[in-house]
Amino acid sequence: MKKDFLSISDLKREEIFEIVQYGLHLKEHKFSDRTLDKKSIGMIFMKPSTRTRISFEVGIYQMGGQPIYIQGSSTQISRGEDIKDTARVLSRYLDGLVIRTFSHKEIEDMAHYSDIPVINALTDLHHPCQILSDIMTIKEYFGKLEGLKLAYIGDGNNMANSWLLGAPLSELNLSVATPQGYEPNGKAVAEGLKLADRYNTHLEITNNPEEAVKDADIIYTDVWVSMGQEGEKDKIKDFEGFQIDSNLLSKTGKKDTIVMHCLPAHKGEEITEDIFEKFSDIIFTQAENRLHAQKALMSFLYK
Ligand code: CP
Ligand code: NVA
Repeated sequence: MKKDFLSISDLKREEIFEIVQYGLHLKEHKFSDRTLDKKSIGMIFMKPSTRTRISFEVGIYQMGGQPIYIQGSSTQISRGEDIKDTARVLSRYLDGLVIRTFSHKEIEDMAHYSDIPVINALTDLHHPCQILSDIMTIKEYFGKLEGLKLAYIGDGNNMANSWLLGAPLSELNLSVATPQGYEPNGKAVAEGLKLADRYNTHLEITNNPEEAVKDADIIYTDVWVSMGQEGEKDKIKDFEGFQIDSNLLSKTGKKDTIVMHCLPAHKGEEITEDIFEKFSDIIFTQAENRLHAQKALMSFLYK
């Protein structure tokens, strides 16, 4: 049966660990995995992208496959052709599909009606490829995952939702702090709490950033205005106190806390320029690891 990757919880805990380990291996052996030999992978983007698009294109090439970038607005989807038909057509040409779009339901439908693996390259609800490479980056940096505490500070968006599932699945403790009214998706919270219970990890959701960062090994943030929310810039005023600055960093009570960001960053909003630069090495390693983690993921999906 074909495997899709729509949410990080499509993977079992052991599978995440296996993919992360393999991603670390591929980082040292770029062209060693030729799983995509003679395979054509379509990449439909309905939103902009720098990291996801380029890392998938390069990764597919390094694995012997053909990446085909498809700008969403150039397809008949933009003229109303339904997802069900698009999925059935593309399944006849392609061996896999990477999609970045708005509604998560759209990608679920695409996966349902196509016979080929579908990979979520970001929806309004989830960004599982980013989480996978972040887990890999944390493992690479700390040499372990279990017992570390990650504090997600900011908007309850796709990144927050994906951390709610990805943290317990990778044995990380998680605190999510958002302003009131910007809490993460309710279903993701419920699923995250269940996973935390099953894997015996700590998961907390609060509106208090100082409380959330206490004892954190990692502070994680993302933009306050996500793609598709460009008309909602007014919301920024509600995020006072949620900026990652030296004051908030000092509240962890730890000297060696690191700061991570999925990028792109809006410096001066969710993070100050000096904190961004202080942790730029780890932040750009996160970006680099998109390539290696996604290659390991594709190898897993076609196994
Ligand atoms: N982090 C991330 O997904 O970046 P892009 O939007 O540039 O792909
Ligand atoms: N929350 C951001 C993530 C970008 C990688 C967005 O959806 O725009």
